[in-house]
Amino acid sequence: MSRKVYLDHNASTPVHPDVVAEMMPYFQDVFGNPSSVHGFGRAARDAVDVARERIARFLAAAPDEIVFTSGGTESDNFGVKGLALARGRGHVITSKIEHHAVLRTCQTLEGQGFDVTYLPVDEHGMVSADDVKRAIRPDTIAISVMHANSEIGTIQPVAAIGELAREHGVPFHVDAVQTFGKIPIDLHGAGIDVLSFSGHKIYGPKGIAGLYIRKGTKMVAIQHGGEHERRRRAGTENVPGIVGLGKAVEVRGRDMIEEAVRVTALRDRLWNGVRQRIPDVRLNGHPLERLPGTDNVAFRHVESESIVLGLDLKGVAASAGSACTAGHVEPSHVLVAMGLPLDWAMGAVRFSLGRTTTADDIDYVVDCLEALVRKLRLALPAGRA
Ligand SMILES: Cc1ncc(COP(=O)(O)O)c(C=O)c1O
Repeated sequence: MSRKVYLDHNASTPVHPDVVAEMMPYFQDVFGNPSSVHGFGRAARDAVDVARERIARFLAAAPDEIVFTSGGTESDNFGVKGLALARGRGHVITSKIEHHAVLRTCQTLEGQGFDVTYLPVDEHGMVSADDVKRAIRPDTIAISVMHANSEIGTIQPVAAIGELAREHGVPFHVDAVQTFGKIPIDLHGAGIDVLSFSGHKIYGPKGIAGLYIRKGTKMVAIQHGGEHERRRRAGTENVPGIVGLGKAVEVRGRDMIEEAVRVTALRDRLWNGVRQRIPDVRLNGHPLERLPGTDNVAFRHVESESIVLGLDLKGVAASAGSACTAGHVEPSHVLVAMGLPLDWAMGAVRFSLGRTTTADDIDYVVDCLEALVRKLRLALPAGRA
């Protein structure tokens, strides 16, 4: 069998076997609607309650501060819109490098009369707390800054931002989809009022996620219907998904720290291998304040799509920093916001490592990259490389 190396864990992860095992009874045996009063319903309700408690414990929150949603995207929509619409009008602060789930929600709010400040970032993709301080106005009604960026892995100074938010009495939403279950989150120390998290980035199933909402935070629902989730999010609960998310969180609680150390060493092995063996490369993102498993590497004068496709032929999965929109290849909004020159930004590739990544995998990927980048550069028109 040909070799397969999956280095796209920030996009999605395989479901942990313990999670699959925990979910199985909830498809056929315990299939009731948690809102039903009979035994079938009560059994499903009990399972939802157990998962909620597991997640609450992991975050040092109360179970009734956890609301289940259909994904990180819904959590972000709910987090930002829920805070803004509860206040009717005003000013929202976010950053230029947020996930589109936040950025496009903010753009929608602008269309509804809200004012939004999109904060810049430095060359490492870091938001400055001083910029947040300067942006706060008397009519600021929400701040939304992600914990770590999915493309470059830079970890934002959420504790400093949270302190400012608290000082000014502004609710603080944090998109923690890329950090939840990967690195510790100090909800209380960081003054976080609302936090988005998602299952499929942490070896849980897709289509299940959640929001932490600090008790007393004024929010409106964005999905209406029944009385589910204390009337904060209508819709019959995704019981197998919720059970899976609860188990995934329990497993992360056990493995997270040890794995973060192991994966950080592998991440550094990858970058060191690349920079020692391939000329004209750079690491995008913060050199230290970065997610354990994320290396975003720019290969100058080479198109990231060609690298990703070439790696795919070798059984290696990575992802391109650029996106093809309407026939044009565009550099990522994150790299543009960092001020990365175009000839670097177009050659950015993200490698995101996970629990099954080995040192052997990393050495194989470095070998593949060295040969591939040399070949692609040789094919460039004279004078380009
Ligand atoms: C930072 C961040 N926020 C939100 C999302 C959206 O999450 P989901 O795929 O669960 O909708 C992602 C997914 O890549 C992400 O990385």
